[in-house]
Amino acid sequence: MTDTQAAEDTRRKIILSGIQPTGTFTLGNYLGAVKNWRHLQESYDCYYFVADLHALTVYNEPEKRRRQSREAFALLLACGLDPKESLVFIQSHVPAHAQMGWMLSCLSPFGDLSRMTQFKDKSQKHPEDINAGLFTYPALMAGDILLYRADYVPVGADQTQHLEFTRDVAARFNRIYGETFRLPEGYFPKAGARVMSLQEPTAKMSKSDTNVKATIYILDDEKTILKKFKSAVTDSEAEVVFREGKDGVNNLMTIYSAITGKPMDDIAAEFADKGYGDFKTAVGTAVAEELRPIREKYAALLADKAYLDAAIREGAERASEIAERTLAKAKRKMGII
Ligand code: TYM
Repeated sequence: MTDTQAAEDTRRKIILSGIQPTGTFTLGNYLGAVKNWRHLQESYDCYYFVADLHALTVYNEPEKRRRQSREAFALLLACGLDPKESLVFIQSHVPAHAQMGWMLSCLSPFGDLSRMTQFKDKSQKHPEDINAGLFTYPALMAGDILLYRADYVPVGADQTQHLEFTRDVAARFNRIYGETFRLPEGYFPKAGARVMSLQEPTAKMSKSDTNVKATIYILDDEKTILKKFKSAVTDSEAEVVFREGKDGVNNLMTIYSAITGKPMDDIAAEFADKGYGDFKTAVGTAVAEELRPIREKYAALLADKAYLDAAIREGAERASEIAERTLAKAKRKMGII
């Protein structure tokens, strides 16, 4: 083993992930990504950010944007991210992201970008605003990840394609300009990588769902959570088992498993002679218990403007230092003087 290899083996691995500040996080965001982020803080060097530049790809009122970015930052801390342990920041505060995004967009094949599911979905949802940012979104995301030399990127299953794209673009850069970027890997939760809508369990739970009963928001109170789970779509079998075709029940079992850590078989046994009513109440109660401390912490954080402002500022400074270093290296390799 060479010295470089040995140093590589003992190096603390780097984690990076981001979330768009387009509204209160959903239970999908939480179970698919943010809950994981908190646990990873102990064993890795972690970078987490509010992806406000990505959110620009869909129109929003400026005043709402301003508020949502701060709220998203506070929500991340409320979910257990500790700015002393992790580097938490707002993407646009680190100009290197936009610069790297542009450089990588010049290495992003049009064909690959056109195949991105998120681009196709969002174009369908907003046919009046299919903008270039929506199209080059994956290049910006690749920049986010590569700037911090991330080893692992904890995300939900819907981001798999973007991660593949990131690896491809990094490999292309390395091939053309010489070894520069580390190729990151996805990091997915055992349960919860794909949380589905409570009303239409074949579709992903999403912030922008127009049916309020379909989505649990992490700031929902206990009564609302229980009500939403009570009206969750299941099936007519009255059997709590994880099986193909039982999308509604599978989703509820997944949520319950992600929160309690119980395997599917144990959950099936627990509810073997109970009806869906009891099962839904148990899932709703577990979710409400999990989210209560987040709601309480969030309220306290938003009330402490000075603390929040200082944390945002400090995050930007520390992140910029790291990102600038990689950006400078990439520029040098590309021949930018
Ligand atoms: P965003 O803001 O849509 O979602 C944030 C995280 O939540 C996960 N997620 C889900 N997981 C399980 N079930 C669901 N229903 C569900 N809905 C959302 C997402 O997979 C994601 O992990 N492009 C990213 C933001 C981003 C980013 C990055 C992520 C920008 N740059 C760099 C990682 C690394 C996005 O739109 O996530």
